[in-house]
Amino acid sequence: MNSYVTGNTVKQLREARKLTQAELAERLRVSSKTVSKWETAKGLPDISLLQPLAQALGISVIELMNGEHIANQNISANMLRGKFYVCPICGNVIHAAGNAVVSCCGITLPALEAEEEETDHSLTVEHVEDEHFITICHPMTKQHFISFVAFVTCDRIQMVKLYPEGNAQTRLQLRGRGNLYYFCNRHGLFRKKV
Ligand SMILES: [Fe+2]
Repeated sequence: MNSYVTGNTVKQLREARKLTQAELAERLRVSSKTVSKWETAKGLPDISLLQPLAQALGISVIELMNGEHIANQNISANMLRGKFYVCPICGNVIHAAGNAVVSCCGITLPALEAEEEETDHSLTVEHVEDEHFITICHPMTKQHFISFVAFVTCDRIQMVKLYPEGNAQTRLQLRGRGNLYYFCNRHGLFRKKV
């Protein structure tokens, strides 16, 4: 990102919107000379003008600062490709539908890679009426516990937070195909296909 909006960006966007310097100036209640100064790198718009300037140019402030139009392609719509982030300090759990830079407690969290279910972290699913009873064979002490269980399908996520000294059990409605994720504070993220 540029440190601030550039004259070239203002000029290109203004011309793309087929606005004259005077027309843009009028919308921002500045003089056309002021706009001319911005465009020729002889002045910078005051920060209070960034929002109205972006609006007049039909883009977001972030795009204005970046100097490019960002098209939202919504490419991360498939939740199955989502990522979990867990803060090792406070235990915060974040799920992102696509790539993200996530930080918590002052540290940048890596996207967790899930291991397939294994003997020391095995999970059973029992169908009870219209729900599923999930049990993870695992200790639930303050030092070593399962901190959440989540069921993720292509379009939704259900997450249940678990706490030490509780049970490593929960009820979920497992509709459709998806993955059950569960997180051990010592051994990391596990996955079981359902
Ligand atoms: Fe564990």
